[in-house]
Amino acid sequence: MLKVLNIVGARPNFMKVAPIYAEMKRRPAEFDPMIVHTGQHYDAAMSDAFFDDLGMPKPDVYLGVGSGSHAVQTARVMTEFEPVVLREKPDWVLVVGDVNSTIACTLVCSKLGIKVAHVEAGLRSGDRSMPEEINRILTDSIADMLLTPSQDGDANLAREGIAKDKIRFVGNVMIDSLFEHLKFAESSTVRSDLGIDGLDYAVLTLHRPSNVDDQATFAGILGALISISEKLPIVFPAHPRTRAKIAEFGFEERIASADIRLIEPLGYLDFMRLYSGARLVLTDSGGLQEETTALHIPCLTLRENTERPITIEMGTNVLVGTDPKKIVTAAIDALAATEAEKDSSTPPLWDGKTAGRICDELLR
Ligand code: UD1
Repeated sequence: MLKVLNIVGARPNFMKVAPIYAEMKRRPAEFDPMIVHTGQHYDAAMSDAFFDDLGMPKPDVYLGVGSGSHAVQTARVMTEFEPVVLREKPDWVLVVGDVNSTIACTLVCSKLGIKVAHVEAGLRSGDRSMPEEINRILTDSIADMLLTPSQDGDANLAREGIAKDKIRFVGNVMIDSLFEHLKFAESSTVRSDLGIDGLDYAVLTLHRPSNVDDQATFAGILGALISISEKLPIVFPAHPRTRAKIAEFGFEERIASADIRLIEPLGYLDFMRLYSGARLVLTDSGGLQEETTALHIPCLTLRENTERPITIEMGTNVLVGTDPKKIVTAAIDALAATEAEKDSSTPPLWDGKTAGRICDELLR
């Protein structure tokens, strides 16, 4: 039987670990899984709500590291996680995604000789100014098993000289969670609560430091959003970082004067109910590029690059950058597109069965 510590730290980790943990629990003769939460995200809306919505049990271990600079946060995860590994002696540690908790736990294990499996391996934006890109490159270079969501990931890893036998194309586990929870999301009242049920609306998320920490960039994006909001209302669940920047830059009045509904971050099911009915999604999130592709919803990515090119090649994603004119033009084009023009398909192995393949690979 394999003892596996499944690591979660930040919001985008929860929906990736939930189906893997559930699959391990369904195979008790093969797996003894535990959940370790680093506490990188700790607000009820950024963490607890996801455990509830995803039906995950409380973490077996909570490290409580909280916020801090990158160095402080990464170091705190490492010092808190090391004794847990020494105590639990797992056969595998499973990390997901590209957040600071991912690299911190991987680094601890690699020094202790404990095997690490990285889920969502191989993604590359080519932009080393993103903290996530550094986390991806470093995690993949020292993890023992690299489980990729799309075949561009396999190609990126091969290009970096990673041994072929470490790379396993298993598909996108986030889509397991998405397909499993769509029916539960139907009972969410978020659309009627916001008064947009049956209407055309757009959904916006924005939290990348490169977009919201620089006042001029954020002001430019906001100008474009105000123009788009003349065509349809924009619902904007704001990350705590973004909230703080809106207050710091004094953007509240500009937002309030347009049809941009600034709301608190939503839980997994409410947010799914919201974006699944949207006419258009505007985002700088990685996960939302994938979720909109899986549901065939037009998505404009407000970044200059993406580590998820498959969502552009096969899916509904368009990379528009942060130039205000380009954002407005792309939104007008997307809203004018006919059904025939919106043709898109679902990438291979985004089929809701990835967690099973991950478990099989761990046993192999
Ligand atoms: C992290 C991930 C990012 C992911 C994002 C999703 C890294 C490097 N980045 O970025 O890839 O897309 O999570 O949300 O790991 N805060 C709270 N409450 C919380 C968590 C954060 O108020 O529960 C505030 C704090 O002021 C904190 C700031 O948000 O300093 C940023 O949080 P942090 O975890 O450092 O990074 P994110 O921007 O959330």
